[in-house]
Amino acid sequence: MSSVRRRQVKHDKAHSSPDEDSLSQEIPEKPTHSPPRRPQKRRFGFVFILGGMFGIFIALFFANKQDVIRLESWMENIDTLMDVIPQGILKDAKEFTEHERETVSYDSFAVGLQLQSLGVEAKHPVVMIPGVISTGLESWGTRMPSRQYFRRRLWGSWSMMRALVLDKAEWKNHIMLDKDTGLDPPGIKLRAAQGFDATDFFITGYWIWNKILENLATIGYDPTNAFTAAYDWRLSYPNLEVRDQYFSRLKSYIETAVDVGGEKVTLASHSMGSQVVLYFFKWVESPDHGDGGSDWVNKHIASWINISGCMLGAVKGLTAVLSGEMRDTAQLNAFAVYGLEKFLSKEERAEIFRAMPGISSMLPKGGEAVWGNATWAPDDQPGQGMTFGNLLNFRETNSTLTRKNLTTPESLSYLFDLSDDWYGKQVLSSYSHGVAHTIQEVEENEKDPRTWLNPLEARLPLAPDMKIYCFYGVGKPTERSYFYQEERDPLVNLNVSIDTTVTNSHGVDHGVVMGEGDGTVNLLSTGYMCSKGWNIKRYNPAGVKVKVYEMPHEPDRFSPRGGPNTGDHVDILGRASLNELILRVAGGHGDEIEETFVSRIREYADRVQIYEE
Ligand SMILES: *[C@@H]1O[C@H](CO)[C@@H](O)[C@H](O)[C@H]1NC(C)=O
Ligand SMILES: *[C@@H]1O[C@H](CO)[C@@H](O)[C@H](O)[C@H]1NC(C)=O
Ligand SMILES: *[C@@H]1O[C@H](CO)[C@@H](O)[C@H](O)[C@H]1NC(C)=O
Ligand SMILES: *[C@@H]1O[C@H](CO)[C@@H](O)[C@H](O)[C@H]1NC(C)=O
Ligand SMILES: *[C@@H]1O[C@H](CO)[C@@H](O)[C@H](O)[C@H]1NC(C)=O
Repeated sequence: MSSVRRRQVKHDKAHSSPDEDSLSQEIPEKPTHSPPRRPQKRRFGFVFILGGMFGIFIALFFANKQDVIRLESWMENIDTLMDVIPQGILKDAKEFTEHERETVSYDSFAVGLQLQSLGVEAKHPVVMIPGVISTGLESWGTRMPSRQYFRRRLWGSWSMMRALVLDKAEWKNHIMLDKDTGLDPPGIKLRAAQGFDATDFFITGYWIWNKILENLATIGYDPTNAFTAAYDWRLSYPNLEVRDQYFSRLKSYIETAVDVGGEKVTLASHSMGSQVVLYFFKWVESPDHGDGGSDWVNKHIASWINISGCMLGAVKGLTAVLSGEMRDTAQLNAFAVYGLEKFLSKEERAEIFRAMPGISSMLPKGGEAVWGNATWAPDDQPGQGMTFGNLLNFRETNSTLTRKNLTTPESLSYLFDLSDDWYGKQVLSSYSHGVAHTIQEVEENEKDPRTWLNPLEARLPLAPDMKIYCFYGVGKPTERSYFYQEERDPLVNLNVSIDTTVTNSHGVDHGVVMGEGDGTVNLLSTGYMCSKGWNIKRYNPAGVKVKVYEMPHEPDRFSPRGGPNTGDHVDILGRASLNELILRVAGGHGDEIEETFVSRIREYADRVQIYEE
């Protein structure tokens, strides 16, 4: 659909190009509302000169060979819009990319071609469920302040950057959900972009699913047997159905695919998408919701490929909503992160993230049993100075909210105490973060949608024929705990932030303590359920087979996205061996995959305080 629009737009000839590439069109000549025009303009110029060079370099740095075409159209846009930019910088930037292109090379299609030669071909229809943040969001509002953005991507495009720079307040109004309903604010309408375009690239040149699409296509996939189920990741999971009927649509898409092709579906989910899948499984079988019957999953899903799933949340999810930390909280390209950091204060970012209840689905789950208590954590290393069990540490605190260091569940309470009431209400009415220790609790949770995305409270579907594949990267240092500080301003706002003054021999570096993981999601979260949790009968009563394939992080030093052997949370989607595994599963050869562990997750998992009843 969107490619049709693209073509039309191009034929229109006017100074325009597709929205994610267009820097020059979306702001009308005469603003329809009246922002103080001049200062903004000046600020824009100023900011651009300041940031432009860095931005361009970063963006170009992150592009690679296959993205050159998009990149060039981007360069044109820069040319037309940014007449403030000195020609010399542009020239340098271009030369820089040309040089850069040579060193970064992903062999597109190669994995697909190789498997094709081994006889692997498309078998199961593939449904891809993307992760948080990487899906573009388009404005569909037609009332006045929104009209100028009609069908522009206010998330995940240059339109976003432009709106952010020129009219930040309006951009924020659009991007934040209503605090009480958790739905669109009155008069504003943002919807997830649809189709492969929604997630193949995030902003020009920064691929997300594109490598996987190339390889799937090589063994015979196309839009009739592959589908991206993009969703508005800002919404809480119940609201995905309320507003967009997301789960109903997914159900009917899968049913159709199975009916017409006679093959069950392979689901491939990334990051937060894995939680969405888990929730969907509960939803679709629940008599009060999807009403598919208790064997729906077994009848329709052949396998579930779970890539870097953050089943038990991520500690970074906490810092994003607690204090607006961005440092690769987000799967964004560096330019987008740069933009968000440049134009929004920490407090504004926290405010925005809180008004996106979907993000809070990634708060850590499993409490002290998984993440540790005041003196101990399952992944503590011998000789480690301080335990990972305290997620938030304070050098000293005079706060009324806490006088001590906080474990994971204590940190969540702290977050809810610190934030406005509506936030806690939204989160606690949508998600649950605990552990169900008995069969009876698990069975009771069948009726409680808040538990459905927590694999320690809700069980897997009774789908003995389904296979689960957990593919994730390990060996990239990942934030595990923090030193925080509190500041109280005259208005009695209590603001918190990472205490960057703390660096010591116990492994604290500028207020952050690193542990194991894929750079974004902690190993405990990616690994526990797959290596141990689903061997516990109450969480997997039908004995769904779970196979783990860990991939060590071996980045190519000269490649900004890590090259073909990266284990990074997002970049892994371009990893050759991951692509190969996905094609094998989709092609019906998943049984040939050998379980592979390279981390010590099984040791840590044994220490987690959750047992067979
Ligand atoms: C923390 O958990 C460990 C392991 O279960 C236990 O030995 C220790 O007593 C606990 N510490 C506290 C303060 O509860
Ligand atoms: C805590 O209170 C003491 C005395 O009232 C003060 O000196 C100190 O700076 C305060 N610390 C913080 C972090 O506010
Ligand atoms: C938190 O833990 C750190 C490191 O173990 C310690 O230095 C600090 O005093 C503790 N803070 C409080 C408020 O107990
Ligand atoms: C605390 O946050 C508010 C916005 O939420 C901001 O206006 C204020 O300046 C911040 N105070 C401090 C001390 O950073
Ligand atoms: C998905 O994989 C991650 C590891 O990548 C794991 O933590 C999670 O439990 C898995 N979830 C499912 C349902 O397979």
